Amino acid sequence: MDSRRSFVKKGVLLGSVLSLTPDIAFGSNFLNFSEKINIGIIGLGDQGLSMLSLLLNRKDVNVVALCDSDVKSVELGIESLKNSGKKAAFTFSGNKQSYLDLLALKEVDAVIIATPHQTRIGIAIDAFTAGKFVGMEVPAANSVEECFDLIKSHEQNGSQLMIMDDLMFRRDMMAAMNMLKENVFGDVFHFKCSYQRNQNIGSCDQHNLNNWVVNSHSKNADVYPTSGIAAIANFAEINRGNRFETLSTQVSKSAFLNQLNKDYQLQLNAESSGDVLTTVIKTANDQSIVIAYEGNVDSVKSMGIKIQGSTGIWDRQHQSIVIESETESVKYTADSVYLEKYDHKNWKDFDQQLVVTESEYMKHLSLDAFIQSAKGNINPVLDVYDAATLAVIAPLSDLSIANHGALQSFPDFTSGAWAFSKGRKANHRIQTV
Ligand SMILES: NC(=O)c1ccc[n+]([C@@H]2O[C@H](COP(=O)([O-])OP(=O)(O)OC[C@H]3O[C@@H](n4cnc5c(N)ncnc54)[C@H](O)[C@@H]3O)[C@@H](O)[C@H]2O)c1
Repeated sequence: MDSRRSFVKKGVLLGSVLSLTPDIAFGSNFLNFSEKINIGIIGLGDQGLSMLSLLLNRKDVNVVALCDSDVKSVELGIESLKNSGKKAAFTFSGNKQSYLDLLALKEVDAVIIATPHQTRIGIAIDAFTAGKFVGMEVPAANSVEECFDLIKSHEQNGSQLMIMDDLMFRRDMMAAMNMLKENVFGDVFHFKCSYQRNQNIGSCDQHNLNNWVVNSHSKNADVYPTSGIAAIANFAEINRGNRFETLSTQVSKSAFLNQLNKDYQLQLNAESSGDVLTTVIKTANDQSIVIAYEGNVDSVKSMGIKIQGSTGIWDRQHQSIVIESETESVKYTADSVYLEKYDHKNWKDFDQQLVVTESEYMKHLSLDAFIQSAKGNINPVLDVYDAATLAVIAPLSDLSIANHGALQSFPDFTSGAWAFSKGRKANHRIQTV
């Protein structure tokens, strides 16, 4: 691998070219990809450890450094490394700033940040300053100011960032990208997505119930928009010829929360958050997008994806699809036929020996996109501009609700570049290992 200085310099140059021509870049062979990359992981909780175990399966990755403020979490990482038979890594622990020692290591080319959401932005900016290629859990930032801080630091330092939204790499989401590429839905005018989880309240112990309630009811805002909207943003080619222009959010009453108070003798403030928050986004290409945040209630697990165009409708939650040219009038058929027909080539390579479940495989694909981009030091499929654009939904929805659903304008983090970039990037031609 090049020295860090030339690595970062190349990134600035390629970053500026690639932001205009991402598809050419992903299919090109002019890039000099390194054979191996050295990665450090900061934050070894559930997400960090699951990414570590996938990275340890790869021949093209050396996990050279691990950090967690909690010593026990680092020990779990060391154990994973030992069990894999790979070389020992540098380890850092003890306090919330220990990650700075990891970032100071010249051996580390790229870092993955999987710490809690309040802590990530500062770590990412320090990683940019240290010249590292950054992979970061979602959401990337918590306020409009933090989104701008991230962009400013990226533009000053030239380091790249990818948000690790694995749902965008789910098999059905990648098949949908193929359908959109083939123009199956015609002129698309509407999308829907939602954050719906089966919280299993009935069988929760008091500790888990308290944890969930405190986290999910912390704010009257769509606090977790990335799930679902990252895939939709990719479908709608946001920041690549299209952009989010405005949003408005409405909130329902807190009937579910009041019931929880009654059933479990809790004393939650029903004023702090409503049960369901619904955000409507308008895009520059005159499309509407509805995001339902149902993280405050018990629900059916789903991303609630719907794509509606002039010649077809796909309603994923109902596993139904109607394509005008192929079905008589408006008659829905099972979407499985289409999902099979448009299956993405990366999923056809699904290797049971590499990973076990589909959910691990989509994480593997997301990590793979990160690693390939880091090896070439090119701007990744979900880059820093996407990170800010998706993260800013939460604070904007907060502002909208506080102002009775008033329309909020999205900042243009790309300073106008969105209008000149073209192409849906997740259909990249990066090969899986
Ligand atoms: N991509 C996804 O599908 C997905 C799913 C769940 C959560 N998430 C995101 O990932 C984040 C992490 O989730 P998790 O379930 O792994 O959380 P977790 O609480 O299990 O792990 C976080 C780890 O970070 C460590 N940490 C905290 N501050 C630190 C610091 N300053 N330096 C080093 N380590 C620090 C903690 O000790 C802990 O071990 C969540 O906040 C969420 O935003 C993403």
